[in-house]
Amino acid sequence: GAAELITGPASGTTGEGGDHPGGDDAPADPDAVLERIEDGAVAVADGEVVAVGPTEEVVREYPPENAADAIDASGKTVLPGFVDSHTHAVFAGDRSDEFAAKLRGKPYQEILAEGGGILRTVRATRNASKETLLENLLERLDTMLASGATTVEVKSGYGLDAETERKLLEVVDRADDEHPVRLVPTFMGAHAVPGEAETTADYVDRVIEEQLPVVAELAVFCDVFCEEDVFSVADSRRLLKAGREHGLEPKIHAEEFARLGGSQLAADLNAVSADHLLQATDEDAAALADAGVAPTLLPGTAFALGTAYAEPRRFLAAGSEIAIATDFNPNCYAPGMEFAATLACVGMGLSPAEAIRASTYGGGVALGADRPRIDAVPSDSGTLREGGPGDLLVLDAPSHAHVPYRFGDSVVEHAFIAGDRAYA
Ligand code: NIG
Ligand code: FE
Repeated sequence: GAAELITGPASGTTGEGGDHPGGDDAPADPDAVLERIEDGAVAVADGEVVAVGPTEEVVREYPPENAADAIDASGKTVLPGFVDSHTHAVFAGDRSDEFAAKLRGKPYQEILAEGGGILRTVRATRNASKETLLENLLERLDTMLASGATTVEVKSGYGLDAETERKLLEVVDRADDEHPVRLVPTFMGAHAVPGEAETTADYVDRVIEEQLPVVAELAVFCDVFCEEDVFSVADSRRLLKAGREHGLEPKIHAEEFARLGGSQLAADLNAVSADHLLQATDEDAAALADAGVAPTLLPGTAFALGTAYAEPRRFLAAGSEIAIATDFNPNCYAPGMEFAATLACVGMGLSPAEAIRASTYGGGVALGADRPRIDAVPSDSGTLREGGPGDLLVLDAPSHAHVPYRFGDSVVEHAFIAGDRAYA
């Protein structure tokens, strides 16, 4: 076929390296961040990519007539599956009334301080059965997959007590068995301070003493909302260190509303990612790049809140591999990676190729794909390299640019996960 094939970043480009063509200005050739093969083909066997290259060569070695499933993608585009590295997709209820209040000018943090926001979702989630939570999550995963996500990280954090936090991670575990999308579980007991805790310090103790011991076996990462009036840098340091003692690698919600110092903490702890970063400075960007912490930008959240977007150039200029993720949650009810890519371009000024790289390879890096000690996702996640996972998309579109260019609709025609047809 005459498919255009995108194999992800050129080999030799890693999250630790400084050779991402970032800079203060947009790169001279923004397409250079993706390796493209015109008229290419890809073969998958035993769940992994076994050949990728010019169609003629690949089909000589792997004749389509011998394949269990073959697609002629002539005129279409093949991409690695999207890696959505930051979601809060397991919860009950919705907050549509708060959406209306926010539109009338009520700030997110004021809603939270009054016991709404996250705490409202906590009440709904504590009251929901495991079956309801599982049903909700499976339905959302269908939507996410239809928009091209083949790997999705899911955080707990709407339980805020040992029993419910465990229940949420058990639901993620069940969904991982029942749904083709690869799930990566993160424990986020430190998402907010629940009403029944006397003080923040009291709650931090409970997370460490009551929750961590019963959830650790079900999660890979430990995350914390390091924010003014939520968890301080000192609280966050305690929580993330305790998480690591239970084998959970740190992630952090940093510099979202206030610049508190979460980036520096992430660098100190060699966290796998620091996320949001709306208020981050060049100094923060340098600290993250030097420590190999993946800056994860969530344009849907800024869009939903009507605030300014994070500035991707400062992280690219510092030499980081950036990730784009949906942050899907009741405040940012946007499960699609395609729309996140659109916002990354229109709102944050990435080129289409940069947005695709950040949504594929970048997401993998934010889940530790390039760290040998972390096995949350296969290495080479978000690429079509030989030996990498057979997670790929066929777009009903002539180039990758159609992903961010067309919005409000999907260009994903098929999705494969570990070589199996997972969607359409
Ligand atoms: O990443 N900032 C904290 N946590 C989520 C929002 C969760 C919620 O509002 O329910 C986020 O945006
Ligand atoms: Fe979040």
